[in-house]
Amino acid sequence: MSNFADLVQMRRSIRKFTEEELKPEELQTILRAALMSPTSKSSRSWHFVVVDEKPLLEKLALCKEAGAAFVADAPLAVVVLGDTAATDVWVEDASIAAVTMQYQATELGLGSCWAQVRNREMADGTPADDVLRFILGYPQNLIALAIIAFGHPAIERKPQDEDKLKWENVHVNKF
Ligand SMILES: Cc1cc2nc3c(=O)[nH]c(=O)nc-3n(C[C@H](O)[C@H](O)[C@H](O)COP(=O)(O)O)c2cc1C
Repeated sequence: MSNFADLVQMRRSIRKFTEEELKPEELQTILRAALMSPTSKSSRSWHFVVVDEKPLLEKLALCKEAGAAFVADAPLAVVVLGDTAATDVWVEDASIAAVTMQYQATELGLGSCWAQVRNREMADGTPADDVLRFILGYPQNLIALAIIAFGHPAIERKPQDEDKLKWENVHVNKF
């Protein structure tokens, strides 16, 4: 990818992956990007749980009623956690880290997709965060924001359509 303008246009959510695993250096580059992402007051309030075991990925995919099934067939996922005791803006810190990883993945030629966890639940009302906490064992001060699945794309997606950008949502000086 030659520049950031191209990168933002090429990034699309990828929910189908080949069986090829990520190389250790690719994973490290993705995590490095997360750890370099900006945080309020430099609190670096996030934690990241890398999951690359198929049985665990299958369990993660069931943490909410709908919208996370693709995680089961990804070679790897990162569960993004925020520390509620460290900052009142953990959602923002964790979101920025999550999307930074997605752009880094795109730059590496990898696909990714966000599965929302915060404020999501299973069909019986069990919070998705409770499900993940039980599986992964993280402490009470942390809350899961999202699962980001990564892998080699098994489908090709068109870049963002320049003609469909919502420029009307941009306001200058006055709404
Ligand atoms: C906050 C957030 C939550 C999302 N949650 C899900 C999700 O739970 N499941 C899913 O399949 N995609 C999820 N996505 C991906 C969006 O569906 C996707 O970004 C959107 O359809 C635009 O497509 P694009 O990413 O290819 O541009 C989420 C994206 C964001 C930013």
